[in-house]
Amino acid sequence: MAQEPAHRPLAGQVAVVTGSAQGIGQAIAVRLAQAGADVVGADLVEDDQTGALVAQAGVRWLSHRLDVSHGSDIDRLAAAIESECGRLDILVNNAGIDDAIRFDELTPERWHQVLAVNLDGPFRLIKALVPLMRRNQYGRIVNIASGSVVNPMPGFIAYRASKMGLIGMTRAVAIDLGPDGITANVVSPGVTATPMVQGSLTPEFLEMTIGKQGVKRSGEPVDIANAVNYIASPEAGFITGQTLMVNGGAAF
Ligand code: NAI
Repeated sequence: MAQEPAHRPLAGQVAVVTGSAQGIGQAIAVRLAQAGADVVGADLVEDDQTGALVAQAGVRWLSHRLDVSHGSDIDRLAAAIESECGRLDILVNNAGIDDAIRFDELTPERWHQVLAVNLDGPFRLIKALVPLMRRNQYGRIVNIASGSVVNPMPGFIAYRASKMGLIGMTRAVAIDLGPDGITANVVSPGVTATPMVQGSLTPEFLEMTIGKQGVKRSGEPVDIANAVNYIASPEAGFITGQTLMVNGGAAF
């Protein structure tokens, strides 16, 4: 049988990336496409830019609008993948919202909103899409958490709770899904230059953070995408339930 070239190890596979319209999600979608996967981009907003970048890699692109906190949107996504692609190999739960709010301003409503997007969303997506992976007894789930879980900083109360929950949930589902050939891991980015960071962190905080890293620069979305690409590859099949910190060696 002819072998795929080493640089396209995901040829013939289908990957879903949530939050693919910008930032880290866009870089992940493009990286997986360069590795040969067809990509389903799932985001709140129209995603033409990512689609154009993915198409340059010569793979198939499907854009799906959804809110990961809405169960009915996720059911529609699962049905679309089933009818359009007929298989699913990789799920990257990247969509997330941050939350620099301090304790006194944090309302229960905002708390629930952050948890609904950052934790309930990934759980619902895993529930809805694992049946497609089980058909081929193969799957790679990569959940994007955050280096902030170990980084003492003001605010981000609901955010950090959601990302800690995501890490715990990933470790647990990894055990349950392992017998089906499905791995589940976390990639935890350090500070990464995206619209999210530009909107919520001060230049002073960014400078302080970089000062505590071994590598003296902000992370770029492609740094995170390269890590996801490895964890999502067939050769990472004995790695599951783990959290990979991609943060320039940040020490707090
Ligand atoms: P971003 O804000 O630049 O992009 C997030 C994308 O997710 C946007 O396209 C947005 O439309 C989409 N999205 C938001 N809520 C959604 C929902 N309910 N349903 C569907 N799509 C939704 O964010 P960025 O920086 O690219 O972050 C991506 C992930 O990486 C997030 O989970 C974030 O928590 C995590 N992260 C980012 C860090 C950074 O420094 N940028 C550091 C640590 C973690």
